[in-house]
Amino acid sequence: MSRARDRRRTGFRDRYGPWAMVAGASEGLGAAFAMELAARGLNLVLVARRPDPLAALAARLPTLTRTVVADLGTDEGIEAAGVAGAGVELGLVVANAAYSPIGRFVDMVPDQWRRALMVNCHAPLELAHRFLPGMVARCSGGFVVMSSLAGMQGSPPITVYAATKAFGAILAEGLWAELRGSGVDVVTCVAGAVETPGLAETKARRAPGTLTPDQVVTAALNGLGRGPRAIPGLTMRVSSAVMSRLLPRRTAIALIARASRDLTRPPESGGPHSG
Ligand SMILES: NC(=O)c1ccc[n+]([C@@H]2O[C@H](COP(=O)([O-])OP(=O)(O)OC[C@H]3O[C@@H](n4cnc5c(N)ncnc54)[C@H](OP(=O)(O)O)[C@@H]3O)[C@@H](O)[C@H]2O)c1
Repeated sequence: MSRARDRRRTGFRDRYGPWAMVAGASEGLGAAFAMELAARGLNLVLVARRPDPLAALAARLPTLTRTVVADLGTDEGIEAAGVAGAGVELGLVVANAAYSPIGRFVDMVPDQWRRALMVNCHAPLELAHRFLPGMVARCSGGFVVMSSLAGMQGSPPITVYAATKAFGAILAEGLWAELRGSGVDVVTCVAGAVETPGLAETKARRAPGTLTPDQVVTAALNGLGRGPRAIPGLTMRVSSAVMSRLLPRRTAIALIARASRDLTRPPESGGPHSG
């Protein structure tokens, strides 16, 4: 590693270490966040429901790790993550876990949208409220909320997921403004399509501008301290600007609906996704 790179990484660890929590760390973007944060020298609290991939990931990381097997769709799971985070000096939280029910809202069972609200909205709020005060007191830290371009307009057939992603983005932007000057950086990463198991599970066709998890993670972490919102990838920045500023709302919604029309998931899968 070059000296300049080494210095940058040490700076990141001083600013956002010594521990980071990744909520939703067992695969996809969460695992990529964990690997990059460990490479930058941070110790990790890794939260997800499945113990085996969590343990396998922890074994590969070069820094200290704690794994928390917890369902962030439940109060007990959020409490378990909170307790684990309270036991270390947490300088960074990545709110990455998500659940996306696919299909018409009127055909959903209430448990689907309740779960989406719990995992995608309630859990990030709880983690923010538990851990931001400590960071503010230390005048140092960061909070990353994973959002999606799907959340920038109505997005059938992932209408509820999209609405929760809008919540996450607006929450992060408000916190960014509230905490400006406190030493604590908040950013929302508004991603387009990313090659993850969650996306593959939905059988979505590969969209133009699809990024790798590493590209998205780099954009999100580099976005800390630079503004309220990071949109990874030039294609996604351009489509976001066109969709939100140039097109009439009904056209933007129709375009997203068209792009998402093939989304589907095996009925037995309760798994997370994204879009
Ligand atoms: N992939 C995309 O194209 C894309 C695009 C835009 C935005 N995003 C956003 O990026 C984030 C990650 O997406 P991804 O595609 O990497 O997702 P993913 O592959 O489906 O992984 C999601 C992670 O969250 C964990 N998780 C899900 N539900 C959980 C729960 N109830 N409690 C605890 N952990 C839970 C999963 O682990 P367990 O199953 O072990 O719990 C997994 O580690 C999401 O916030 C998503 O909205 C993704």
